Amino acid sequence: MIKMLVTGGAGFIGSNFVHLTLKEHPQYQITVLDALTYAGNIHNLDTIKDNITFVHGDITDAKLVDQLISQNDVIVHFAAESHNDNSLQNPWPFVNTNIIGTYNLIEASRKHNKRYHHISTDEVYGDLELEDPNKFTEQTPYNPSSPYSSTKAGSDMLVRAWVRSFGLQATISNCSNNYGPYQHIEKFIPRQITNILVDQKPKLYGSGQNVRDWIHVDDHNSAVHAILNKGVIGQTYMIGANGEQNNKQVLEYILKDMGKPTSWYEQVNDRPGHDLRYAINSSKLQKELSWQPKYTNFEQGLQNTIQWYKNNTQWWQPQKQQVEAKYKEQGQ
Ligand code: NAD
Ligand code: TYD
Repeated sequence: MIKMLVTGGAGFIGSNFVHLTLKEHPQYQITVLDALTYAGNIHNLDTIKDNITFVHGDITDAKLVDQLISQNDVIVHFAAESHNDNSLQNPWPFVNTNIIGTYNLIEASRKHNKRYHHISTDEVYGDLELEDPNKFTEQTPYNPSSPYSSTKAGSDMLVRAWVRSFGLQATISNCSNNYGPYQHIEKFIPRQITNILVDQKPKLYGSGQNVRDWIHVDDHNSAVHAILNKGVIGQTYMIGANGEQNNKQVLEYILKDMGKPTSWYEQVNDRPGHDLRYAINSSKLQKELSWQPKYTNFEQGLQNTIQWYKNNTQWWQPQKQQVEAKYKEQGQ
């Protein structure tokens, strides 16, 4: 058995990763380290709780991180403060978790000479014009816009430097926007689905022309496994599935699939510094590691996600009022 430490394994992508790993990669014995912030939910792991070890703790706790890393073979680091809008209200937790937390993980990984995989985002590259024929590649210069993306960029830079200066056994992946089950309802797609379920109009920032490159969370996670299996130490891999859609189009799909008129939404305050477009060129991952996405029909994936939120009202309902009250204060 290979001992794997998954940070942030009670969050959206991390919990889906743990489920997928147990199902498809039984050689791993998993320990989850998660602080259970507002974004973490222990119930995401309910059905597999007997098959993993769960540690309730913080990646900013250097002693705990060192101890756990000494006991594991592979570290997959998902834990982060992950929401742009929150980072604009209060950047400190982003600096603390995303930068200091990552520092603790890579320091312990180099000390104990462990294999480390760093989960990052395409947002570190800034944004593209709508008509730009180029997409982000592994060579695109970093140009982050928000406190969230700048702290992710900072953590990526630490990893790159630790590889070069100390020989850290690390890989990095930069993925585009994920969708699927267990995504916190502060994020765009689940916020709109759950708004419709509580009979509130969906909320679109600005004109809705901003483009995101959507990928199903299981495709992100299968790519992470491809990198763990075959990735070259020191390399960065872009993860994306050619899923560009503007926000208005995505909202119209959701409204149509949920039986509402496609005009049944409100335009609200735009996000300050709102990135216009993200788009990923994942040909390196596809060519060098033979990875392919499975969920290529976005509308089908969206319908399954809508069904998941319909079937799991007890999972999101307790947080709905509070999330919307916070957005309302921001005029969003
Ligand atoms: P999330 O907010 O849903 O989950 C984050 C998890 O990390 C939660 O379980 C939370 O409790 C935990 N956590 C936060 N601070 C912690 C700390 N100090 N110590 C220990 N645990 C802590 O986030 P997500 O959407 O699942 O994102 C996971 C990772 O993927 C992040 O690194 C994010 O930058 C990256 N990413 C996300 C997307 C996306 O579309 N959501 C796209 C690309 C990359
Ligand atoms: P989000 O899910 O916050 O992800 P990110 O900021 O990482 O791309 O937002 C996705 C897009 O949806 C982004 O362009 C902002 C927009 N958005 C809305 O239009 N309305 C909303 O209520 C939210 C939360 C986001």
